[in-house]
Amino acid sequence: GWNMEDVLEEEIKVIKAMVGPEDHVICALSGGVDSTVAATVVHKAIGDRLHCVFVDNALTSVLHQYFRYKERERVMATFESDLHLPVTCVDATEEFLSKLKGVTEPEMKRKIIGKEFINIFDIFAHDLEKKVGKKPTYLVQGTLYPDVIESCPPPGSGRTHSHTIKSHHNVGGLPKDMKLKLIEPLKLLFKDEVRAMGKIMNIPVAFLRRHPFPGPGLAVRIPGDVTAGNSLDILRQVDEIFIQSIKDAGIYDEIWQAFAVFLPVKTVGVQGDQRTHSHAVALRAVTSQDGMTADWYYFDFKFLDDVSRKICNSVRGVNRVLLDITSKPPSTIEWE
Ligand code: XMP
Repeated sequence: GWNMEDVLEEEIKVIKAMVGPEDHVICALSGGVDSTVAATVVHKAIGDRLHCVFVDNALTSVLHQYFRYKERERVMATFESDLHLPVTCVDATEEFLSKLKGVTEPEMKRKIIGKEFINIFDIFAHDLEKKVGKKPTYLVQGTLYPDVIESCPPPGSGRTHSHTIKSHHNVGGLPKDMKLKLIEPLKLLFKDEVRAMGKIMNIPVAFLRRHPFPGPGLAVRIPGDVTAGNSLDILRQVDEIFIQSIKDAGIYDEIWQAFAVFLPVKTVGVQGDQRTHSHAVALRAVTSQDGMTADWYYFDFKFLDDVSRKICNSVRGVNRVLLDITSKPPSTIEWE
């Protein structure tokens, strides 16, 4: 393995040499580990000529994350006081949800989310230009090595170039007319290395432990129309119970990623002495080294039994809980 202290030092040197003294750099923070570590590296190199934006797209699972439910101020405070990052917060929940209304095709959903991100980002960049009197020159992205090879396999890697499995919107999705140059300080790193680098920079370990969360957020965990009924709301509640139970059982760190999936399917149940016709949800947990392949996680039955009861007892609108027992391949980790 590499020595992360050396890699970090080298990376900071490269960025310092690359970014001119008049240049401004922008970065979208997702609230996840990758973009946060990437931004922190760049911040170390160029200080407050880095300008970050956090877009609330309504699709973040803020409940179970490091941040508290709906506490946007808290998210911001964490970036600012724990991580010392300069961040602007944009509420774009209405924009995203209105554009996703009625859309069911998975790639279309991803494209819409990617495009809307670019719109919001564009506005942020233009506002910044007015403020500092100069167009931003660089864009920071938290691209990791596996993202690079999965979206566009390098020649000779033996992977097919002919089709993209999924359009990861944070790879190659740049506002075209902005002519931004990319800074990708994590491009050669795997997730565990990114976490090690974050630790060196004193990013809180509780933050660095967090499971990966996909760019398109909960939209890829609700097959079909994301805006239908209160699926987002139900999903957040189920996810919160599942993740909290995993943390309570002390197995969070053994798992690469765990989450709930909202199924747009209603089945019949009986709760209390009432017949119900409610939604089914699926639980997914996998172990993995880098997200490129993954094995489904073996929970013990008692744990599953407890979680299932808890979910049906406390989440209105759910009367059935399923466990996803497929690995990657043949499945992907996310459902869309
Ligand atoms: P899949 O579902 O392709 O996911 O097996 C592999 C890993 O990548 C995450 N993922 C994404 N991350 N933007 C991201 O930043 C995306 O569009 C995206 N799609 C999937 C997924 O959560 C898993 O960790």
